[in-house]
Amino acid sequence: MDEAAQRSRLLSGFAETIAQAKERAAQKTHETKIEAINFNFFYGSFQALRNINIRIPSNQVTAIIGPSGCGKSTFLRAINRMHDRTPGARGEGQLMLDGANIYGDLDPVKLRRRVGMVFQRPNPFVKSIYENVAYGLRIQGVRDKRTLDEKVEMALRRAALWDEVKDRLHKASGTALSGGQQQRLCIARAIAVEPEVILMDEPCSALDPIATMKIEDLIHELSDSFTIVIVTHNMQQAMRVSDMTAFMLMDRETRAGELIEFAATDEIFTNPKDRRTEDYVTGRFG
Ligand SMILES: Nc1ncnc2c1ncn2[C@@H]1O[C@H](COP(=O)(O)OP(=O)(O)OP(=O)(O)O)[C@@H](O)[C@H]1O
Ligand SMILES: [Mg+2]
Repeated sequence: MDEAAQRSRLLSGFAETIAQAKERAAQKTHETKIEAINFNFFYGSFQALRNINIRIPSNQVTAIIGPSGCGKSTFLRAINRMHDRTPGARGEGQLMLDGANIYGDLDPVKLRRRVGMVFQRPNPFVKSIYENVAYGLRIQGVRDKRTLDEKVEMALRRAALWDEVKDRLHKASGTALSGGQQQRLCIARAIAVEPEVILMDEPCSALDPIATMKIEDLIHELSDSFTIVIVTHNMQQAMRVSDMTAFMLMDRETRAGELIEFAATDEIFTNPKDRRTEDYVTGRFG
C-alpha cells in the first residue's frame, strides 16, 4: 500500500473512533437516571420546593448550587426519601428513578439500597473500619467471610483509603481516623453495597484543602460507575468535579426553592442563560 492510501486508511480509522466517542458521549448525556416533573416538596404548610423539572443524567456528576435555604438539601434528600420520618414532610408531583416514581412504586428500603448518601459531616459508626464498610453488606444478608473480605477491600480501594488503613482494619475504630479519612470511609461504606446513585451533601465542607482534593479526585473516578449528585457551596469545586450544574434560588415572596437553570457545567459558568445564574456564579449575589 502506498503512503497516501495508508494515510487515508489510518485517517478513516481515526474518524471512526471519533464518531464512536461522540456517539458514546451522546448516549451518556441522554440517558436519564433521575427525573423530576413538576415536583413540589412541603414541610407542613411551608412549600420548600416548587415545580422542579430536571433530568439528571446517568453516570455523570451533577452539582447543585445556590444560596443557603434555597432547597438544595431538601431536593437531594427527597431522592432517597430521607424525609420519610420528618413529620409533615411530603413530596408531590413526580420524582423518578429510572422511570419509577420514588414516592409511589418504589419500596423505600430497596430505594436506599440503590441510592446511597454521604453527608456534610463524616458520620462513621463506632465500629472497626472493616465493620463500617461491611455494615450494609451484612444488612443485605452477606455472611460469607471471603465475600465480605473481598467486598470490603474493593470498596476501600475504590474510595482510595485501602493503603492507609489495611493494617488496622479490625483494630481501629472508624471514628479514630482523620476527618478526610472518615469521609472516604463513609464513601467506601456507601459504595460497598454497589448503589446506582450517590448523593453527597457538601461532602468537603468540613475538610481541609488536601482532603478535599482527594475527595474530588475520587468523585471523578467514581462517576464512571455511579451517578453522582453533589451539593456544594464552592463554585470552584462545582467547576472541577461536575459535568452538569443545577442552579437553585428561593423565591423572594413565597420562599419556595426553584430550579433556575440546569445545563452543562461550562455553560452555567461561562455562558449562563439566566441573569440570576450569572449574578450568583460571578459572586454578585448571595
Ligand atoms: N425539617 C424541616 N422542617 C421545616 N423546614 C425545613 C426543614 N428542613 C429544611 N427546612 C426549610 O426548607 C428550606 C430549604 O432548606 P434546605 O436545607 O433544603 O436548604 P439548602 O439549600 O440546603 O441550604 P444550605 O445551603 O444552608 O444547606 C429552608 O427554608 C429551611 O428552613
Ligand atoms: Mg443544605
